Amino acid sequence: MTNLRATASAMVAPGKGILAADESVATASKRLDGAGIPSTAESRRGYREMLLTTPGLANWVSGVILFDETLRQATTDGVPFADYLCDQGVLPGIKVDTGAKPLAGRPGETVTEGLDGLRERVAEYVGLGATFAKWRAVISVGDGRPSRACVSANAHALARYAALCQEGGLVPIVEPEVLIEGEHTIETCEAVTAAVLRAVFAELADHDVDLEAIVLKPSMVVPGKGAPQTASVAEVAAATIRTLRASVPAAVAGVAFLSGGQSAEVATAHLDAMNRLGPQPWPLTFSYGRALQDPALAAYAVDGGATVEGGQAALSHRARCNSAARAAAWTLEMETLEPAGSVL
Ligand code: 13P
Repeated sequence: MTNLRATASAMVAPGKGILAADESVATASKRLDGAGIPSTAESRRGYREMLLTTPGLANWVSGVILFDETLRQATTDGVPFADYLCDQGVLPGIKVDTGAKPLAGRPGETVTEGLDGLRERVAEYVGLGATFAKWRAVISVGDGRPSRACVSANAHALARYAALCQEGGLVPIVEPEVLIEGEHTIETCEAVTAAVLRAVFAELADHDVDLEAIVLKPSMVVPGKGAPQTASVAEVAAATIRTLRASVPAAVAGVAFLSGGQSAEVATAHLDAMNRLGPQPWPLTFSYGRALQDPALAAYAVDGGATVEGGQAALSHRARCNSAARAAAWTLEMETLEPAGSVL
């Protein structure tokens, strides 16, 4: 387990966070099509190459979560993406769940699948160069949701996934996402997040998962998107830290948040505010997908996906801002003084 613990620590190293670029073919296609780029295996490869070859990425990013298709693809020069990342000092990771599927008897709720054959897939991914994995459980809020059945089924699956990953040599990112969709208050989000985290850690304990060799990827405690009352950055930071401190064991190697539909700048501001609340039992960093990629995709999509430098400038800007937030050193001036056109 020593190597896994070292990898988990490296994933949350000072000044660094994780780039989530593991969208399934369906999700990647939706995003590319939405930006005016027809989605093909080659256009997805080209887009991911733009992200992964961003100059200086390793200064701010410890690891990148890839989708199965991307882990099997290579740069234009023929270097497998996993090898390219390793050469840059960036850890390649892999999404191993097969998606959130409707939960029987619980309308509007899902359970994440992918346990069948996972031992064999973990072995294959290790052979392809992956060092860590990701599994996302999805919890929706409102109209009696989440049910106990939904929380316990997802917590159980997360623990079985985590145990299989550690057995096979991958650090599991444990991702229980409480969705931002809904009209729930921040107080409801806090109560649901606490209940979900407690269920997840109880299952992880039952399955003897080494907490020093996992990274927790939670959602922040925020009001639902449709809630009548919004919350300030300070309120979100305080509620999220309070919830984590009450429910996450100190042994966990690190906490790397998802962005979950927050705008890029707001996700950065929240991370910065949390880190300004003083030292916590675990490092707090980012594992953002949309909050890192949305500005990069928009810039890349100018000219139908040929603007590599623009996309890379936008990604490096966001990565640098989030790296500063990881160190409680982000300022609003960084957003205005370093516009998305400069690759430093
Ligand atoms: P977002 O930051 O866009 O929520 O994506 C993170 C992720 O990996 C979702 O599983």
